[in-house]
Amino acid sequence: MSHLDNTPSTPGKFKMEKSPYVHHRLRWHSSLAKLTFWSFMFLGLILIFFFRSPSSGPLPQDPSRRSLRTYNWGGPAWEKRVRSSARIRSRDGISVLVTGAAGFVGTHVSAALKRRGDGVLGLDNFNDYYDPSLKRARQALLERSGVFIVEGDITDSTLLRKLFEVVAFTHVMHLAAQAGVRYAMENPGSYVHSNIAGFVSLLEICKSANPQPAIVWASSSSVYGLNTKVPFSESDRTDQPASLYAATKKAGEEIAHTYNHIYGLSLTGLRFFTVYGPWGRPDMAYFFFTRDILKGKSISIFEAANHGTVARDFTYIDDIVKGCLGALDTAEKSTGSGGKKKGPAQLRVYNLGNTSPVPVSDLVSILERLLKVNAKRNIMKLPRNGDVQFTHANISLARRELGYKPKTDLQTGLKKFVRWYLSYYSDGKKASE
Ligand SMILES: *[C@@H]1O[C@H](CO)[C@@H](O)[C@H](O)[C@H]1NC(C)=O
Repeated sequence: MSHLDNTPSTPGKFKMEKSPYVHHRLRWHSSLAKLTFWSFMFLGLILIFFFRSPSSGPLPQDPSRRSLRTYNWGGPAWEKRVRSSARIRSRDGISVLVTGAAGFVGTHVSAALKRRGDGVLGLDNFNDYYDPSLKRARQALLERSGVFIVEGDITDSTLLRKLFEVVAFTHVMHLAAQAGVRYAMENPGSYVHSNIAGFVSLLEICKSANPQPAIVWASSSSVYGLNTKVPFSESDRTDQPASLYAATKKAGEEIAHTYNHIYGLSLTGLRFFTVYGPWGRPDMAYFFFTRDILKGKSISIFEAANHGTVARDFTYIDDIVKGCLGALDTAEKSTGSGGKKKGPAQLRVYNLGNTSPVPVSDLVSILERLLKVNAKRNIMKLPRNGDVQFTHANISLARRELGYKPKTDLQTGLKKFVRWYLSYYSDGKKASE
């Protein structure tokens, strides 16, 4: 079966103009038909002019450009793989649908769940926001441990409905998202597509599922935006996002509130703080600094006004994974069924950080030591296009309620990252552009 993900429920949409009714009229009432024909032509010309005009839309690019793809799914063999991947193999295990499973955090969480005997099914659209071959390599890694990743988009309700028909997921780990702060100025529609439309599409299926799953999903530390109170606590204000990315994540938190309130869905949002580690995302500074230092290219290090330090609460992937599993394990059941709420359900939000911000210049020094190469530093003023000066998590809530205890410092974590990076890119086959 083949499905265009953004037109899942309106298969007849594009056939309207060729309706047999129109042809019928053309034959029997030719003068009226001519008038109708020319009216349509005229309307069509106006429409063409309108859509070609550069000022016709606020978005410079097609927002769903990356998702206009056809995915193959369905059939008995496919269903068998889905079932087998999602099968629970331990006592008290859970079955989890992991969206964004070929992503950085998605891959690590999927592998960890599978290791302890839970059922895991991945879902990913393998878009090309960054080198898809890295996603394919993560997919191969998961495949070896028995995790199947379905290829498709979270806005494809037909596919999502099918997955819930085949498997009665107890939990959804929703990690699919359009990430990145500066890319939002290039392709704003992509953030709306994945982080808002995609989240709503997923919640719609979850609320109708029987039983409803409990949902844990990735929010972001970026929701703290221009907040200056440190450390960032969950009760601090989050109504001053500094990027469209942050705004869509904040919107997600409000949407989560709505679905919890109306349908009794159990929802837990996790505000990740600068996650790094092996199999990481090439669009993040620690990753492309490593690449550029090795190539002898100069790297841009931002500083704030008056030589202010830019710092991040870097959090190692293994610590984040433990936080995700803690959130899944403490999630209460959703209370609704068949789209109806039966009683109040759990609604939570947690910071998952490391509680020790490190200046970006220190990150570079650590990389220089690990790579045994001096970086060409190009100090630049922090642009006002989304990045904030520092992040610092208060994690006492996650420690108390999820048993979350990060224990990897930046030095240790980067050492593991660099070891992975060198081995992954050393065989010459994979270009790290
Ligand atoms: C950290 O958050 C907790 C709430 O979880 C709060 O009681 C505490 O005061 C916060 N600590 C700081 C230093 O802001």
